[in-house]
Amino acid sequence: MISRETIEEILMRTDIQSLVSSYVTLKRAGSNLRGLCPFHSEKSPSFTVYPADNSFYCFGCGVGGDQISFTMKIEHLDYPDAVEFLARRAGITIVETGNNSYKNEPKLDKSRFYQMNVDAARFFNAYLFGNDPAAKSALAYFTEKRGLSVATIKHFGLGFAPDSFDTFTRYMLGKGYTRDELVTGYLCRRNEERGHVYDAFRNRVMFPVIDVSGNVIAFGGRVMDDSKPKYLNSSDTPVFKKSRNLFALNFARQTCAESIVLCEGYMDVIALHSVGITNAVATLGTAITSEQARLLSRYTKKVIISYDADEAGRKAAQRALALLEEVGLEVSVISVPGAKDPDEYIKTYGVEKFKEVIGAAKSKFDYRLDSILGKYDINLPQDKINALGEVEKLISTVYSVAERDVYIHTVAEKFGIAFQSIRADVDRIQARNRAAAKRDEGKRVHEAAVGYFDKVNPDYIKAPAVAKNEETVLGLMLVHPDLRHTVYRDGLLTDDDFFTDLGKRIFEYLRVATESGNDHLIDISEVFSAEEVGRITKMKFSRMEVTNSPEVLMESIASLKKAIAANASGQTKTMDELAEIIRRRQEEQK
Ligand code: GTP
Ligand code: MN
Repeated sequence: MISRETIEEILMRTDIQSLVSSYVTLKRAGSNLRGLCPFHSEKSPSFTVYPADNSFYCFGCGVGGDQISFTMKIEHLDYPDAVEFLARRAGITIVETGNNSYKNEPKLDKSRFYQMNVDAARFFNAYLFGNDPAAKSALAYFTEKRGLSVATIKHFGLGFAPDSFDTFTRYMLGKGYTRDELVTGYLCRRNEERGHVYDAFRNRVMFPVIDVSGNVIAFGGRVMDDSKPKYLNSSDTPVFKKSRNLFALNFARQTCAESIVLCEGYMDVIALHSVGITNAVATLGTAITSEQARLLSRYTKKVIISYDADEAGRKAAQRALALLEEVGLEVSVISVPGAKDPDEYIKTYGVEKFKEVIGAAKSKFDYRLDSILGKYDINLPQDKINALGEVEKLISTVYSVAERDVYIHTVAEKFGIAFQSIRADVDRIQARNRAAAKRDEGKRVHEAAVGYFDKVNPDYIKAPAVAKNEETVLGLMLVHPDLRHTVYRDGLLTDDDFFTDLGKRIFEYLRVATESGNDHLIDISEVFSAEEVGRITKMKFSRMEVTNSPEVLMESIASLKKAIAANASGQTKTMDELAEIIRRRQEEQK
C-alpha cells in the first residue's frame, strides 16, 4: 500500500503538460493544449490537455483522466505500477506502508531489491563467460545443446550459477547486501537450524526475468541434465509477483500490438525471439492467471496459444483459452505436430514452417472440436453418442447458418452419420436455446442497446433526460470539492436520486472520497475502468467551460429530481420502444 500523502505528492509534482509532452506534441489552444490523440488515429487534433486541472480528454475517442490514467493507458500499466512509474519520474522514493505480506519490514525500499537483482544478473552472466570449467560446460549447454547464439545469450542476459555452497552469497555480501535482503529477495536460502545463508541457485543455467520497465525482478534456473527439479523459479518477493508478470514482455511489448504468442517455457520464447518472432512471451512456471490475462489484454488484441504438445499442454491450453476470452481477447491455439514444444519444432522444421503453423492457427471452433474428439474413441458406440452430443451442442452455438452447415458436413463425414440427422439435432438444440433466450428478452434488448448506444453508461438510453441531468450534477461535484461537501453535508441528494448504475457509483465514490478527505480523487483510475474515467472526465470538462456556482448546483439538483420523478411515474421507454429505436438505428447504419 502506498500512502495517500505519497500519491498526492506524486500528482502534485507531475505536471500533466510535461508528462503528456513526452509522448504527444502539444499546441496551445486558449488556456488549453491540443494534440493528436495517442490512443486512436486521427488527422486533426481532438486530444485536449487542461493544465489548470491536470487532466486530459480526447473528444474523438472519449479517453480521459488524470496523470495516473494517462500513464496507465500509454505505458500499459495497472494502477499501482502507474503510480510507481510516476514516482520514479518525479524522483520520489516510494515507501510501502505495511498492509501487505511484508509487514515486518514496514519501510521497504524497492529500488534496493532491483539493484540487488541487477548485481545478481551481472554476476551470473559474467560467470557464464568466465574461466571456471563448469561455466564452460554451461556455455556449451546453451550454444551446442540448445543451439543459442552468443548474441541471443547476451540479449536475454542468460547466466550460470556455480556449483558452490556460497560463492554467490559471499560476492553479494561483499557488495553490501545483508543476509536478510538476499533471503527475502529469493537469491539465497537460510538453513534454519544452523543459521547459514547459502546460494539458492546452484549449478544451474540462469534466466533473468525482466519487467516492462526494465527492472530485473526474478530468476529461473535450469539444470543441465535430467535431474529434478528441472527448474527453480524465484518465489514472490517484494518486487516480484509470479502471477502478474510474463517472461520477455519487456521485449515483446515493442512488437505485440496485433498479436502475442503465448508459450509455456522460457526456452520456447528464447527460440522464437532468436528467429525473429519477437512477440512471444511465457508465464513464469505456473498456469496463466486472470491477472496475466488482463495484462495481455492491455498490450495486444490477439493471443496465439502455443503450448507443449503433451496432454498437460493441451489441458493448460484449454484453460488459458477460456481465461483469455474472458478478458475480451481474440484467441487461437496452435499445436506443433511432430515435436514436443515450439522450441523443438523450430529447431527441427525451421521458422518458416512454424510461421505456417501460426498462419493455420485453429479457430476456437476447430480447436474445441478436436478436443472433444480427443476425449472419445468414436469406434465405441457409447463414446460415439457422447461425442456427437457434445459436438452438436458446440455447433448450435455458431451463429451463421452457412458456417453451421460446413461444420455439420465435417462431422457427418467423421462420424459416418447422415447430414440431415445431425442438422435436425442441432436445430432442436437451437430451438431450446432460443426459448431460453426469449425468457430473458429484456436483457437481450438491453444488451443490444449497450452495443448501439452507450457502452460506458448502458442505462443512459433508458432514461436520457435523467442521465443528462445526472451528468450535470456530477460534473459540478467533480469540478468543485466544496460543492460536493455541501451536497453530502446537507444531504441534498441520495442514492435514489440517481437512475443509472454509473451515476449511482460515481455518487457513492464521491461520498466516500469526500468523507475521507480524498479531495484529489487519487484512486479514481483504480475504482473505475479506463472508459468510465474517460466519461467522468468528460462530465467534468463540460462543466469547466461554463459558469458554476452554488445557485447553478441547486438548479441542476432540482432539475435532476424533476426528471427522476417523471421517470418513476412511467414516462420512460418500454422495452418494445427500445427495440424499435435499436432497429431504426441499425437501419441507419447500413
Ligand atoms: P526445456 O525442457 O529446456 O525445453 O524447458 P522449457 O523452458 O521449454 O520448459 P518446460 O516446457 O519444461 O516447462 C515450462 C515452464 O514451466 C518452464 O519454463 C518453467 O518456468 C516451469 N517449470 C518446468 N519445470 C519446472 C520445475 O521442475 N519446477 C518449477 N518450479 N517450474 C518448472
Ligand atoms: Mn521445452
